[in-house]
Amino acid sequence: MKVLVIGGGGREHALAWKLAQSPLCDKVYAAPGNPGMAEIGECLTPAAPGPEGFLEIAEDKEIDLTVVGPEAPLVAGIADAFRAKGRRIIGPSAAAAQLEGSKAFAKQFMKEAGIPTAEFTVVDSVEEIPRAVAKFGFPVVLKADGLAAGKGVIIVREDRELRPAMERLPRGRVVVEECLTGEEVSFIVLSDGVRVIPFETTQDHKPVYDNDEGPNTGGMGAYCDTRILDDSQRRQITETIILPVIERMRHHGQPFTGFLYAGLMMTEEGPRVLEFNVRMGDPECQPLMHRMASDLLATLAEGAPIEWKPEPSVCVVMAAQGYPGTPRKGDVITGIEDCGAVVFQAGTKRLDNKLVTNGGRVLGVTSSGPDLRSAIENTYAAVRKIHFEGAHYRTDIGRKGLKRW
Ligand code: AMP
Ligand code: GLY
Repeated sequence: MKVLVIGGGGREHALAWKLAQSPLCDKVYAAPGNPGMAEIGECLTPAAPGPEGFLEIAEDKEIDLTVVGPEAPLVAGIADAFRAKGRRIIGPSAAAAQLEGSKAFAKQFMKEAGIPTAEFTVVDSVEEIPRAVAKFGFPVVLKADGLAAGKGVIIVREDRELRPAMERLPRGRVVVEECLTGEEVSFIVLSDGVRVIPFETTQDHKPVYDNDEGPNTGGMGAYCDTRILDDSQRRQITETIILPVIERMRHHGQPFTGFLYAGLMMTEEGPRVLEFNVRMGDPECQPLMHRMASDLLATLAEGAPIEWKPEPSVCVVMAAQGYPGTPRKGDVITGIEDCGAVVFQAGTKRLDNKLVTNGGRVLGVTSSGPDLRSAIENTYAAVRKIHFEGAHYRTDIGRKGLKRW
């Protein structure tokens, strides 16, 4: 089969890396891809913006299966455009992608489906926030309605933080919601619109600094470990959260196909949904692909069951100076080849035959070990061998999981 991966970040590099290992795979293409993906397959730049450009590539190269990494093309209708031409693609329709594209839609959907989530109010303008906040008290969570690359959520801890938070939010609709406490987990499944195949559980680390301090990022690292949730918790999540989404979408005539990612808070009252994403997580995808023992392409193309290696895996993101603000670019990256781990590239480019930084999250250094502690140690040993000017990373990825060992 010829496979096309849409996107060019660490998640897409990990997908391409795993797909390329499949005996069913003849060739991997990526659009636009990145230098890491260029080592595995062929990277192509779409000639036209939007879904059309990707569709042209798929038709031109006679792609058998397309896998979409990021949310933006899904919300823009890439899956609809491909299916209208009879092309196989992994990802939901634009209508189903509203679960991620609009937080107000997702909250209303959860309320109607009885899916456990934080109490909330939707307001139509920033000016209405203070009245809504009064209902919940502090801390309270403000969420911009539309896509915001993981940066549209502000937790307001006290009254004096409210005005500055309101000023930072984009204009328009805002979800104001109760602040939940507990441990966050990422629960990702693959669905054909009817059935689901749950993936192993992962945990992301969103704040930029150790001990979950500093502003939120797209994710500074993740690990994949069977012990994050036990079987009864996984069953409860599947039955009370995942299957109700799949069933309700189907009954509305909008079957959900592709990756459904539930970002959950494990509260004392049980799991609560923080957000739905309609795609794989980034960086969650990196430790997931590293740990997957079976053939990803067989699962995507034929629904084959997934097998997992027992060893936990860990991905540490190395970010550019300035991230999550404006990242510094153009610094030469060294040490990848001999670091001893799998390095998924994200914000990189080739310049005069050298690999240089070109974005906020630069690399996802990924490794495993017989237990979580050694998986963490192996990953950081590799991280320390990689250099670029201004590099920064969290030093506590996976540490939360050690208490379960
Ligand atoms: P979201 O994009 O909705 O997942 O929000 C990004 C991050 O904000 C989450 O990963 C949580 O760390 C935090 N967050 C979102 N909603 C809540 C909530 N209701 N209570 C506490 N933290 C939240
Ligand atoms: N790692 C968080 C996300 O992919 O949304």
